[in-house]
Amino acid sequence: MPLLIRGDRLSDLHLRPATKDDLDDLTEVARAGFPDDPEFDYRFPYRHEYPGDNYKWIRKEYEEYLDQPEKYAVLVVTAPTLVDSGHCDRVIALAVWDISICTPHRGGDLGIDVRRDVNREHFKEFEKSLGRAFQYYFGAYGARQYHLWLLTTHPGFRRRGAGTMLCQWGMSEAAKRGYKATVLASPMGTKLYEHLGYNHMGSVIVRVKEEEEMLSVDCLEYTPPEMKNTLSRVMRRLCFS
Ligand SMILES: CC(C)(COP(=O)(O)OP(=O)(O)OC[C@H]1O[C@@H](n2cnc3c(N)ncnc32)[C@H](O)[C@@H]1OP(=O)(O)O)[C@@H](O)C(=O)NCCC(=O)NCCS
Repeated sequence: MPLLIRGDRLSDLHLRPATKDDLDDLTEVARAGFPDDPEFDYRFPYRHEYPGDNYKWIRKEYEEYLDQPEKYAVLVVTAPTLVDSGHCDRVIALAVWDISICTPHRGGDLGIDVRRDVNREHFKEFEKSLGRAFQYYFGAYGARQYHLWLLTTHPGFRRRGAGTMLCQWGMSEAAKRGYKATVLASPMGTKLYEHLGYNHMGSVIVRVKEEEEMLSVDCLEYTPPEMKNTLSRVMRRLCFS
């Protein structure tokens, strides 16, 4: 990834919807950023031996998101970066928001039975445990939520506000509709979400039976202030009636 030349200020970062032309950049940023989320090592421990498989299936995953704009908002933040021929804006962070929880995901199995970068047991347990946690903590909100599936900033571009921009997009779109924003988070993600006003609802442990290795994932939600005010008005009315 080229060097950032002016991105110290928030004004040099730009948020926009991703397109198919961004697929290579999305894959690169995902492969550079997600290894700092422990779930990446847990699911893809053999990615260094099989980088081609890892690249291929991650690219495929983002292609599937981009093919379903009715369900997913795929967003990127770009920053001015130095390249051989001068400078240009490059993708430095990405997010995938599920904006229509009740719309089924269309897509394949992400190569689970053929790719060699993956620990299959961990991959399947991760999906199962997070599915259960989602139902437990957020299932009751049904379609009235925006759920953040994926978020990462390239390691060379962190703590400049890119993650915040990508989160705030979903938080404000959710707020416009009177929805919550929800997320199942990594330890680094949790620090960002708490900074943005999310509440920690609980945690889920991912663990394959009889293995010591495990993963802890936090469950957080954001309630827009307008919703909190409405709720407290309703509560006050109930108390005094
Ligand atoms: C989590 C992540 C996306 C944050 O991206 P970012 O662009 O650095 O986030 P921001 O610059 O918007 O951070 C805003 C604030 O969040 C908090 N924050 C973000 N990352 C933090 C960290 N590693 N430690 C402590 N606080 C952190 C800080 O309060 C920060 O403000 P500050 O820099 O003024 O102190 C990034 O660290 C990342 O990609 N991590 C690896 C992948 C991952 O875990 N993704 C989340 C999956 S749920």
